[in-house]
Amino acid sequence: MATPIQAAGSGQFLVGGDIAVHRLGFGAMRVTGKGIWGDPANPAGVRATLRRLPELGVNLVDTADSYGPEVSENLIREVLHPYPGMLVATKGGLTRHGPDIWAPVGRPEYLRQCVLMSLRRLGVARIDLWQLHRIDARVPRDEQFAAIAAMQQEGLIRHVGLSEVNVEEIEAARSHFPVATVQNLYNLANRQSEAVLNHCEANGIGFIPWFPLAAGKLATPDSVLDRIATRLGASSSQVALAWLLRRSPVMLPIPGTSSVEHLEQNVGAASLTLAEEDFAALEAAAR
Ligand SMILES: NC(=O)c1ccc[n+]([C@@H]2O[C@H](COP(=O)([O-])OP(=O)(O)OC[C@H]3O[C@@H](n4cnc5c(N)ncnc54)[C@H](OP(=O)(O)O)[C@@H]3O)[C@@H](O)[C@H]2O)c1
Repeated sequence: MATPIQAAGSGQFLVGGDIAVHRLGFGAMRVTGKGIWGDPANPAGVRATLRRLPELGVNLVDTADSYGPEVSENLIREVLHPYPGMLVATKGGLTRHGPDIWAPVGRPEYLRQCVLMSLRRLGVARIDLWQLHRIDARVPRDEQFAAIAAMQQEGLIRHVGLSEVNVEEIEAARSHFPVATVQNLYNLANRQSEAVLNHCEANGIGFIPWFPLAAGKLATPDSVLDRIATRLGASSSQVALAWLLRRSPVMLPIPGTSSVEHLEQNVGAASLTLAEEDFAALEAAAR
């Protein structure tokens, strides 16, 4: 009998101390067109992928107003609303001017518009986790943080997350609101956010590594990763995800895909347990 694929195997994390999610989530950036612009090439495949999420126990979905823009949030609402038992996290603060072009705007009135428009698109009265996609370097960061704190006090946002920040920025934000999550580039091969991850772990902040599947040169044939994957009967991307899940209890990977097949494969990593020596061998190879 086939083993059921379930995200629950990845364990649980309480976002903001009160919203329980399975640690292996889903990133909904890839359900849009090329360059994260416009509609997906295969809308039926994307809808089927989103529909499969609750069946697989995936209850942490990450999106942003800028994915498409609007396309990802609209599809999530169409397929998953009213999100029973699911945390849909979104982001704001990046404007779009074409494929692969992202420009931060952190003026308080724009951040407020981002939140109000995401509420409308997602069809909710409050966003459970709203993340500042980027701190805008041209606007005093305290103005951006104060605007977010005001929206949280108003009840438009339940928990606040940050993205692409360092430890000093996290601490500056925490003087305005509790930081529930931090979303930074992090994977087996790219560990530039190691200090941020350690800081999150020490403070009970969820760490959402984006681009989690990348393993770079570590995934080449006959590499340590490849050999461990072959021995475990798994793919190298599954081992890369299992390594992340084992790396820290606050790690919340959100692999993204537009295909049901890849989604099932990625969720399969939730039940893959890495032995201590395999974890250590991957750690050594990455360093
Ligand atoms: N905060 C930020 O600044 C930021 C930046 C980037 C991303 N993110 C978030 O992080 C999420 C993940 O990041 P990401 O999409 O860049 O990286 P990723 O999840 O590591 O990789 C996604 C890519 O890998 C492919 N893929 C997925 N599963 C696969 C599998 N099992 N086998 C082979 N290929 C597979 C996907 O193509 P297919 O569609 O063909 O499967 C897609 O091209 C995004 O969805 C988004 O929510 C945040």
